[in-house]
Amino acid sequence: MRALVTVVSLCFLSVQAQWTYSGDDGLGENEWSTEYPACGGQRQSPINLKKKEVKFNPSLGQLYLDNYGAEELEFPMTNNGHTVQITLPNTMYFTDSNGDVYIAEQMHFHWGGGSSGVSGSEHTIDGIRRAIEIHAVHFNSKYGSFDNAKNQPDGLAVLAALVEIDKYAENTYYSSFLDELSNIEFSGESTILHDTNIQNLLPEDTANYYTYEGSLTTPPCTENVRWFLFRDTVKLSETQVVKFENSIRNHHNETLHDGYRKTQPLGQRVVEANFPNSPENKWLLLPGTSTQPYEPDVPS
Ligand SMILES: *[C@@H]1O[C@H](CO)[C@@H](O)[C@H](O)[C@H]1NC(C)=O
Repeated sequence: MRALVTVVSLCFLSVQAQWTYSGDDGLGENEWSTEYPACGGQRQSPINLKKKEVKFNPSLGQLYLDNYGAEELEFPMTNNGHTVQITLPNTMYFTDSNGDVYIAEQMHFHWGGGSSGVSGSEHTIDGIRRAIEIHAVHFNSKYGSFDNAKNQPDGLAVLAALVEIDKYAENTYYSSFLDELSNIEFSGESTILHDTNIQNLLPEDTANYYTYEGSLTTPPCTENVRWFLFRDTVKLSETQVVKFENSIRNHHNETLHDGYRKTQPLGQRVVEANFPNSPENKWLLLPGTSTQPYEPDVPS
């Protein structure tokens, strides 16, 4: 009897695992909620951020990132059939402006490439989808481990960054990572990533961010993620992005393309930022640049 239960539950697990984006060969994203009810919830991710509707919250401070810049670490890196995932050490953590500490668990990517030039970020800003999106998944330190935190209402936080193409500017911080992809071409393969500093894979400016309450962007879509999306982006050359997009195969042995979820309704949620809107227009407010007409300095 126990053997039968095990067999049945294994089958159940393997059926559940067959989620996809396209739905060609499994549960497409519009059907995720039939197996994973949270995917049909009201605080799902990703979302489209409308800059004009983002609320500047001056009480949101900076994030303090610790130990992401450590040199000479080795990171296990896996092709799990959906993405390439880098295991991060628990020595990396960040502190938000409430003093909550989130410990690093793993980092993975979403990209496009389905047809030439198709972008694959999950979050969009004013409707614009960027080439790639980076997600560094963290758990709330008060739960001690990812497994304990993953179902808690305040269990998870993701540091997210968008990757833009800067056509001829090769980002050498990504060289080892991109070279290593050839060793995990097939689903289930793993390797060790060397010569990579995680901080250098993130945007240069990690002080300014958007934040909102959302979910995991893949099944089970758990609605317990505090999102921090950096305002600054990572830049890769076009050649690097094309290489990234064509390196990895999924569990059907097809090149893994367009692994991103559609944006979800924002609903009643408000996206906040720790920086004021339109800083590029700030000069309008500076003293000495007022709109008063020019008055010549005529001696009286
Ligand atoms: C996947 O495809 C490659 C290239 O077409 C082939 O060499 C390899 O045997 C395939 N692997 C599996 C598991 O089907």
